[in-house]
Amino acid sequence: MPIAITRKVSPALAHCELTHLARTPIDVELAAAQHEEYERTLARLGCWVVSLPAEADLPDSVFIEDTAVVVEEVAVITRPGARSRRPETAPVAAVLAKYRPVVSIEAPGTLDGGDVLRLGRRVLVGLSERSNREGIDQLSRLLSHHGYKVEAVPLGGCLHLKSAATQVTPDTVLVNPAWVDPATFSGFTRIDVYAGEPYAANALMVGDRVVYPDAFPHTAARLDRAAVPIVAVDVSELAKAEGAVTCCSLILTG
Ligand code: GLY
Repeated sequence: MPIAITRKVSPALAHCELTHLARTPIDVELAAAQHEEYERTLARLGCWVVSLPAEADLPDSVFIEDTAVVVEEVAVITRPGARSRRPETAPVAAVLAKYRPVVSIEAPGTLDGGDVLRLGRRVLVGLSERSNREGIDQLSRLLSHHGYKVEAVPLGGCLHLKSAATQVTPDTVLVNPAWVDPATFSGFTRIDVYAGEPYAANALMVGDRVVYPDAFPHTAARLDRAAVPIVAVDVSELAKAEGAVTCCSLILTG
């Protein structure tokens, strides 16, 4: 059974980091309700959900994906690029230690888990405002022991690599080609987001299903036509905090 580690919405969510979005009012109660439904969705898809308590002083802590990169063999605790987010990692490391050997990215490296897209033994990492060369080099050293090949991927216009591309079937990626070079995904079938839905490339594959925001109907129609099985969720309030469906969990498999 996959394990999904999540963390409840912080009451301070409205004070989150924002890089590419303007600040708009966030209904934190609604965000928490949407997040609970997201957790229930993961449970319905067969995950054992380990839900960590909210962190009152860490606005972005619901976006737990950024704190670690977990593969079958090891958990790499990140050093988030945003200074305000660095205290998020310690409680996650303590939980992950129950499931995996734990290693860490060290200063001056920075790495956000949202920049890390694993495609089999290939691990693509966005060279972003959050993840630097040193962080990517450290990840490469830590994962190469286990047979993974880490590749840095230039990005533009978005926060994380997984804002621009995610995997939706074993051989298909969903891509916003305006933000990442689609040639990166040669060998994969590519579905491009509808141009009017630039934030639509973030999907969360859980087994053979894909958790997907209900905010992108045109791109969802493309996924339907490609027979990608979507489970829709409403994450509108989390999206205002520059979060999406992959950010809200760490999925442990194997
Ligand atoms: N608000 C999500 C982030 O900037 O990390």
